[in-house]
Amino acid sequence: MRLHVVDHPLVAHKLTTLRDERTDSPTFRRLADELVTLLAYEATRDVRTEQVDIRTPVGPTTGVRLSHPRPLVVPILRAGLGMLDGMVRLLPTAEVGFLGMVRDEETLEAKTYATRMPDDLSGRQVYVVDPMLATGGTLVAAIDLLIERGADDVTALCLLAAPEGVEAMERALAGKPVTVVTAAVDERLNERGYIVPGLGDAGDRMYGTV
Ligand code: URA
Repeated sequence: MRLHVVDHPLVAHKLTTLRDERTDSPTFRRLADELVTLLAYEATRDVRTEQVDIRTPVGPTTGVRLSHPRPLVVPILRAGLGMLDGMVRLLPTAEVGFLGMVRDEETLEAKTYATRMPDDLSGRQVYVVDPMLATGGTLVAAIDLLIERGADDVTALCLLAAPEGVEAMERALAGKPVTVVTAAVDERLNERGYIVPGLGDAGDRMYGTV
């Protein structure tokens, strides 16, 4: 697994405003969307392309276009939905799948409650979006499922990560074709599983739930 922390002043600026408890839901959603687009620019550096011959008004040239099969973008419900638009803005021809995951409060394991994506992901590049990499349980389960279905290149985009989550992913996904792209790795997780200093509950802040 590779970790890529995007070091850019605009990323840091938007993340700081997202963290601020005074930022209201409409502003939070807009900033999260903009931040995703900046992260997506970095995350798609290795998106597969193929050569294509075209004509400009002046003459022939050779360029590139995204190759087939098309990349798949998978938001993890609920909070991942707030990252979908920013992602497909850069990859408008991507297919979109959905994964609903919830943590079983008894076993503490991530359980899948909804899956809507192709059964066969052979040869596909997949971009999973989930704002908070906290314990890593949900993302590991999601990525295992994608790799089981044949995905051969998985990139997870997270607004923020905790060191505990990054370590858990490194342990569980060692040697697998996985990259994590995030705006920052924070200090730690607290006893309630929140990232510190973090930004609070991303889903609640996006959707205004109290
Ligand atoms: N999920 C969140 O929304 N926030 C955290 O800090 C950790 C997990």
